[in-house]
Amino acid sequence: MVLRTIDQADLQDKIVIIRTDYNVPMDGLKITDNTRIAESVPTIREILDRGARKVIIVSHLGRPVGSVVEDLRLAPIVAELESCLGEEISYLRDDVNSISREKIESQVDKVICLENIRFDSREEKGDENLAKKLASLADIFVLDAFSVAHRPHASVVGVAKYLPAFAGRTLAKEFNDINSFLQTIRKPFFGVFGGIKLDDKMPVIRSLAGKLDCIVLGSSIAVAFLHRFGFGVGDSVVTKDSDKVVDQFWDFVNQSGIKVIFPKDLVIGSSLTNERVKVLDIDFEKIISKEIVPMSICEEKEGVYDIGEKSIEELKNIFGTAGSIFWNGPLGWAEKEKFAYGTLETAKLMSESKAVVLVGGGDTVGFIASNNLSTKFDYVSTSGGAMLEYIANNTLPGLEIVGE
Ligand code: 3PG
Ligand code: MG
Repeated sequence: MVLRTIDQADLQDKIVIIRTDYNVPMDGLKITDNTRIAESVPTIREILDRGARKVIIVSHLGRPVGSVVEDLRLAPIVAELESCLGEEISYLRDDVNSISREKIESQVDKVICLENIRFDSREEKGDENLAKKLASLADIFVLDAFSVAHRPHASVVGVAKYLPAFAGRTLAKEFNDINSFLQTIRKPFFGVFGGIKLDDKMPVIRSLAGKLDCIVLGSSIAVAFLHRFGFGVGDSVVTKDSDKVVDQFWDFVNQSGIKVIFPKDLVIGSSLTNERVKVLDIDFEKIISKEIVPMSICEEKEGVYDIGEKSIEELKNIFGTAGSIFWNGPLGWAEKEKFAYGTLETAKLMSESKAVVLVGGGDTVGFIASNNLSTKFDYVSTSGGAMLEYIANNTLPGLEIVGE
């Protein structure tokens, strides 16, 4: 697939509507990682510099499911974008139905930001009328959010039916980065999978199967295995259908000859105080072969929240041999400082390795950015679900509308 980028657009005197993804990590009303906002600036700047009359920005934040949620207004994001862009922005908090082209034309500022588009229940349904409404405000549509390109929503895919559509720089860069990583995979190829949902990783694992040599698992997926084999895991997060997914995963990797590296030790923490309680050595091979009798590994109000020092020691040797690494998802409960050890150490090992590394996912990228590691990786994609779906399916609904 070749993308039609803004290189091919005549922007002079046009009103350009840009779909960005400002679904950034927040702590209340405070932005904790501005990567997605900062990365959108070059596209907006270029469109302005190439003579656009107005730029309308559309984004979502969180999942307000079709109604106004005060804490999910875009106000903090508009303020951050103003500072990154160095331009005043007209922020239109009104219902999108009440915004007309005349209203856009009459704004004093060149850059206009609409309110969280997911406040409108039609957005996620891909509603034609909402798409038409958005299209009626502008002359050209630019999709600059790879991370939302897997959603066939009105502001992502719908608008393109009514306006000439082009890919922005951020989307194109992410598309090219992921493709060049996949096209130049060096052996041995490692997949490092953290986060909670093994389910979400399955399509990617299936798609990479012919190439993947080895999978490294974080603490939550290790918990899924413990649960499957009858171990008590206390307050650790166990997702719906977890046992079934573990079986599917295990069958698949065995059939495909993919080696799995489980953590050698797990950090048990208090779910009340978020403090480390103990580190437990664990032998997954013996658990899976049922050589160890199932038992409870957590007391009440405890959970498995990280991988420990022995796991890191093993990864040190393993990553030394890696040719390429694909990393998605924190290896422990990395938002909590006490349980960020495994993710941080693994991130450092990967970034220092000779391997070519692609890191993806909002949480993972937020984590490496806050630890000043972003520049140490070869490819960094702020997309989570979209990247996994792209690797699995080789296309996305949002790419189809700007691709040929
Ligand atoms: C993301 O952060 O992954 C994107 O903004 C998509 O958000 P969603 O999963 O709520 O659609
Ligand atoms: Mg490297």
